[in-house]
Amino acid sequence: MKRFKTRAVHVGSHPDPVTGAHVTPVYRTSTFAYGSFERGARMFAGEEPGYVYSRIGNPTVRVFEEKVASLEGAEDAVAFASGMAAISAVAFTFLRPGDELVFLGPLYGGTEGFFFDVLSRFGISVRDASGRPAEEWLSDKTRMIYVETPTNPTLRLNDLELVGKVGGRAGVLTVADNTFATPYLTRPLEHGLDIVLHSATKYLGGHGDALGGVAAGKAEAMAELRSHGLRHVGGSLGAEDAFLLMRGVKTLPLRMEAHCDGAEQLARFLEGQELVEKVYYPGLPSHPDHELALRQMDRFGGMVALELHGGEAAARVFLDSLTLFAQAVSLGDVESLATHPASTTHELLPQEVLERQGVTPGLVRLSVGIEDPRDLIEDLQQALEKVKRRLAM
Ligand SMILES: Cc1ncc(COP(=O)(O)O)c(C=O)c1O
Repeated sequence: MKRFKTRAVHVGSHPDPVTGAHVTPVYRTSTFAYGSFERGARMFAGEEPGYVYSRIGNPTVRVFEEKVASLEGAEDAVAFASGMAAISAVAFTFLRPGDELVFLGPLYGGTEGFFFDVLSRFGISVRDASGRPAEEWLSDKTRMIYVETPTNPTLRLNDLELVGKVGGRAGVLTVADNTFATPYLTRPLEHGLDIVLHSATKYLGGHGDALGGVAAGKAEAMAELRSHGLRHVGGSLGAEDAFLLMRGVKTLPLRMEAHCDGAEQLARFLEGQELVEKVYYPGLPSHPDHELALRQMDRFGGMVALELHGGEAAARVFLDSLTLFAQAVSLGDVESLATHPASTTHELLPQEVLERQGVTPGLVRLSVGIEDPRDLIEDLQQALEKVKRRLAM
């Protein structure tokens, strides 16, 4: 098997059979002419492969799916219109009324909202087992364990080896959201998990110009996901976005190295600043999950969070003073982004949950882009100086 960087570029990509176009074009078509009564009947009976309708499969989308499957070490992958479409399709395909879903959080707010507000309406119970010992994770109704790693916004890690073992022993489906790490840094299936999924909107696409989601795993599970979660639920990825995502995946290794280089340097810089109370980065020995990060991540990713002395007032001046970091949600773009979780993404959560997750008024989350880290550090430095002056600290 070829190496990761080679597979990112080559897997799934074939010259167009009609024109020879070297890069797979945007197959902007809803339907595919199957040519004859006989062939149509064979294709619908599943006796002959091929495309019939873009909700179920499309050649541009397929290149993206094949790349992700290869990079995650999966037999197959299915793409969706967004990360949430992938997550909901996995849940609707593999859970039934009466089943329990257990998650180890914290989770992306949209995912937690979907679990508690939507899945619960279909008779599926949801239990947060975060911080509980592994012996307490499962009940006799548990059918799925769901984890994210690293988690938002303080970049805590879940032990994938342990999740894979507990799920495997009990015959419970294990699912990991690998959006923050990407397969370049962590491959959950290698640790024994069953399904890995992504908001491809983030690092896989990498340029902040496309929405998408993808799930990968064993061929049989992916066939079920395609026929139920995609074909019947219908959150299909459009060819235009698929083109941008498959192009993004080709440069994933290069971008991730740059994100990691930048984040490592910024985290080290921030750790030395007197205005900064805490820095959260799995690559720092001070991070509570650093040992685990060394075991299950190849590098430590492009996300950094910092807690400022001076609470919300300090965070406000700091964020408003940044010039290279756009204040925006989302992550994984080539451009650097910054958010204040307490007043934006986590605004609706109760105080006790915020405290448990470390979302303090002074917490700022950075998605470190691929700009020159020296320029980013200078930007952080001038913003910290403004905080010091304005708040007379
Ligand atoms: C970890 C994680 N998973 C899933 C999602 C949802 O993805 P999308 O916005 O593509 O639906 C997000 C979005 O921010 C996320 O951060």
